[in-house]
Amino acid sequence: MKLYRAKDYYDMSRKAANIISAQIIMKPNCVLGLATGSTPVGAYKQLIEWYHKGDLDFSRVKTANLDEYKGLNRDNDQSYYCFMKQNLFKHVNIDEANTHIPDGMEADAVKEAARYEEILKNLGGIDLQILGLGHNGHIGFNEPSDIFPKDTHIVDLQESTIEANKRFFASADQVPRQAYTMGIGTIIRAKKILLMVSGEDKAEILHTALCGPVTPKVPASILQLHPDVIIVADEAALSKW
Ligand code: GLP
Repeated sequence: MKLYRAKDYYDMSRKAANIISAQIIMKPNCVLGLATGSTPVGAYKQLIEWYHKGDLDFSRVKTANLDEYKGLNRDNDQSYYCFMKQNLFKHVNIDEANTHIPDGMEADAVKEAARYEEILKNLGGIDLQILGLGHNGHIGFNEPSDIFPKDTHIVDLQESTIEANKRFFASADQVPRQAYTMGIGTIIRAKKILLMVSGEDKAEILHTALCGPVTPKVPASILQLHPDVIIVADEAALSKW
């Protein structure tokens, strides 16, 4: 596990964007596992800037997102499909056919989970998986649980997650109660993992996840067992270190 200490959110975003760019430059047809939430937005911004300078080419890059709310269609502003379009895809030369996100409108959870796993299999595995960290230790939408879920599946979102994510919606009751997410097994199969963490409100959980026991009660603790994890965290997030 490598830990990079960043000064602040901006510095964390630049350092993370450097790692993502290096992956694209070293393997132009790489598969990136992408995350949503506020944490990776700055890194995506930086990648867009470098793309406009002519330093990055996304034409052969393939992507697979971690998760999607169930019941939100692609046109909904709060869907992760829309998030990715606004924060990255529409600004770079990525081919939409190369981007993959679980289909929140598929009512049959078993069918959607199997479809998404098949896509990931056909992509040949994820080269670099980007992750944010939930306040309860979730990665993707893998909430604290009694087991580490293996593959893509449907989850009931916990109240704390609904509470944390309501800032993006008009009110808490508009936050979907379920989501599709890659499983912990899906995430851990990525060749390399980049965990980005910012802010004092994540300090406690970051410390617990990386220094506490490996347990499904803290889903991110599984990262301790992965052979190639890079953590880029700012000073505030590392304040309990
Ligand atoms: C969301 C997403 C996660 C994300 C996390 C943290 O629920 N499903 O993928 O990492 O919450 O979000 P933020 O970066 O906004 O703190």
